[in-house]
Amino acid sequence: MSEMKIRPFPEKKTISKHIYGHFSEHLGRCIYEGFWVGEDSEIPNTDGIRNDVVEALKQLNIPVLRWPGGCFADEYHWKDGVGPKSERARMINTHWGGVEENNHFGTHEFLRLCELLETEPYISGNLGSGTVREMQEWVEYMTNDGESPMVNWRKENGKKEPWKIKYFGVGNENWGCGGNMRPEYYADEYRRYATYVRNYNGNEIYKIACGPNVEDYKWTEVLMREASCRMHGLSLHYYTTATGVWKKKGPATGFGSNEWFSTLKNTLYMEELIQKHSKIMDKYDPEKRVGIIIDEWGTWYDVEPGTNPGFLYQQNSLRDALVAGINLNLFHKHCDRVHMANIAQIVNVLQSVLLTDGEKMVKTPTYHVFNMFKVHQDAELLDLHFESQEYRLGNEVIPQISASASQNAEGTIHLSLCNLSHKDSAELSVSIEGLTNATVHGQILTSDTLDAHNTFDAPDTLSPEIFQDASVRSGNVHVALPPASVVVLALT
Ligand code: AHR
Repeated sequence: MSEMKIRPFPEKKTISKHIYGHFSEHLGRCIYEGFWVGEDSEIPNTDGIRNDVVEALKQLNIPVLRWPGGCFADEYHWKDGVGPKSERARMINTHWGGVEENNHFGTHEFLRLCELLETEPYISGNLGSGTVREMQEWVEYMTNDGESPMVNWRKENGKKEPWKIKYFGVGNENWGCGGNMRPEYYADEYRRYATYVRNYNGNEIYKIACGPNVEDYKWTEVLMREASCRMHGLSLHYYTTATGVWKKKGPATGFGSNEWFSTLKNTLYMEELIQKHSKIMDKYDPEKRVGIIIDEWGTWYDVEPGTNPGFLYQQNSLRDALVAGINLNLFHKHCDRVHMANIAQIVNVLQSVLLTDGEKMVKTPTYHVFNMFKVHQDAELLDLHFESQEYRLGNEVIPQISASASQNAEGTIHLSLCNLSHKDSAELSVSIEGLTNATVHGQILTSDTLDAHNTFDAPDTLSPEIFQDASVRSGNVHVALPPASVVVLALT
């Protein structure tokens, strides 16, 4: 039996709802088919955007959605994607599958999607192959008012009032697909481009600089030293593979306990990354004004057999549910520095919350975790003390339990728990400072099958159920977690 103690922090820390952000990219079937079916489609849609997907996503209270990439962003020329669809430029999506991109989903369509989802847009600008002028004009087109060529053009294209755009990324992975730059060079480019990402018309932009690839600490050091005073956020990208080997990442389903263990172990590496990058940032920004924006995270497996390798389509199983829960708990824990996170990608690609096939749609286990965990959005992080039992496999050891607690504005305490072990249950006794006569209820996501997943024919193989194994005894909450499970409890 592990003991857990929960109490408020002396200084309040808020879990930003933006930690629950998502990422949409012109990659595979994310935009086309996933969101965009066109106004003439037989699939029910609103202005070309499929209704079933919007309806499912609205349930998650998605706070922010990043677009159009990823690597795609640094090859995207926004002017190709506005105006009458029949006149829009066609191009090849050279990064992702070599397929035609007809630009039917552009700025207006993305911002309409955000309206339907009631979410904030996060636009990723093109620094790698676009000009400063192009970036400046995009911001002007979207956010300015009055008399200017860009504003007039927007109005001609049917949008009279400017949009409000808060989040703007000045390049993506500029150490790789966004131009293979050195940090010193990118820092200067960032300063130049960011200068022209202007606040028009009372719209205040939160500028996000391209941050490091995984453990590239030098990148963080140089960017913070040279440009932190001109940025609000610095991105961080880290994906979980099963093997840790990029060329052979492991399958999304059909794995055993070894791959289960290694995937969860690789996921836990996220904490070391946050801590070490934060430490560097602390030198230049002890107030933690600049946020770490983990705008790409999640699992990345081998593509599903028989699918276009450039589409990165993968299934999503109970293992992904654990990966989601572990990461979200870590982001909560470090919410003083982690101001936003965007799982990749929202539909039909890597660790997606939804998969579609023609008119069919299925919610993945990751969807269910986001739905269960959404109670933490904008809640106050609580101080949680516990020593997890060990989860051992061969010579390797990781903690068995991942946990996090918060209190919402109504006073309800939520405790999210993941039992990482594929075979052992865990008993917990939880004491909560100031809470006597608690009542407890909750939900669980679990299965006896490690790669349990939802398919179009069996969409509810894995879905949350009411959790029966939590009770209050002598003031403490006793919890029995089955192996391989994700649980969220509400304590009042
Ligand atoms: O998510 C797929 C790709 O991974 C993104 O386009 C890129 O930013 C990252 O390398």
